[in-house]
Amino acid sequence: MTAQLEATALAIVAGGKGILAADESSGTIKKRFDTIGAESTEDNRRDYREMLFRASDAMSKYISGVILFDETLRQKAKDGTPLAKVIADTGAIPGIKVDTGAKELAGCAGEKITEGLDGLRERFAEYYELGARFAKWRAVITIGDHIPSRTCIAANAHALARYAALAQEANIVPIVEPEVLMDGPHDIARCFEVTQAALDALYGELTTQRVHLEGTILKPNMVLSGTACAAQASVDEVAEQSVKCLKRVVPEAVPGICFLSGGQSDEAATAHLSAMNAMFNTPWRLSFSYGRALQARNEDMGWAGKPSECRSSILRKRYRFGPISFYGIFGRRLSFRSHQESQADPHRSDI
Ligand code: 13P
Repeated sequence: MTAQLEATALAIVAGGKGILAADESSGTIKKRFDTIGAESTEDNRRDYREMLFRASDAMSKYISGVILFDETLRQKAKDGTPLAKVIADTGAIPGIKVDTGAKELAGCAGEKITEGLDGLRERFAEYYELGARFAKWRAVITIGDHIPSRTCIAANAHALARYAALAQEANIVPIVEPEVLMDGPHDIARCFEVTQAALDALYGELTTQRVHLEGTILKPNMVLSGTACAAQASVDEVAEQSVKCLKRVVPEAVPGICFLSGGQSDEAATAHLSAMNAMFNTPWRLSFSYGRALQARNEDMGWAGKPSECRSSILRKRYRFGPISFYGIFGRRLSFRSHQESQADPHRSDI
């Protein structure tokens, strides 16, 4: 069983590939559809996501896994093929978001705890039958005056670890996501401090709950200046602080780290990850698990009535950001991993 978990985790971070997070809840996808004047019906959600997964040449080159919302894992494409099979046919692994959302944490004003543990063992068994081989649980940590509290960090780390243990019991790789939000006026040093505390608590709990770290993936935030901070850190500084923070607390046993974009633009998220891979050799593979950074412009440029070839080329361009950032070749930057090294990498995908 651990062998299958390890193989799945490694496949998720195979060179240059990363995860497409298409698991927006019904409320979130409705807000996105509202911005392009599309109605959020079950069929429209299916059509939009089918479009993302049918960009099969780009999917097979650049995307290793797709995180789905419960509804999508049960949906069939227009031609009757289950969407999970459409994804698997491109070589990507279907995954499932299993938390039921972040709710107010009792006794801790302004803080949240993620729910969804009740009945999770039974849900995992069903998700495995439906084709999911990895899962996601997102904890939300807010930086503000006097927060996060230790209570919030500890409660979320505990829930993440209990989820991870149940996932592995079902032969499903848990992606553990303790997201420190980028909203607020805090500086990058404060983000570093909170991210380190959240990850430290998480790895303590994962060990306590007997989670097999080699069969997990970490999905963290990057270490960034708050969105309202007057002094915005440079790309190199974000790369340095993110890797420094991760090196302090993430065990080498973890095979891969797939960053969330967290509301960064597609270009910023790509530049930051590219800089990390260009500047540092790390014990874990550094890749992406982007939602907004892969889809934000697809909704207005790609979906609303454009011909399919156009949609496909937009998606190919966007999905291609993965290998560009993996090999550290975004923008002005030349790779620290030399071109020859990347050519020789057995995990390399065709850029
Ligand atoms: P973003 O990349 O838009 O932050 O979404 C990733 C995700 O799955 C958050 O849980």
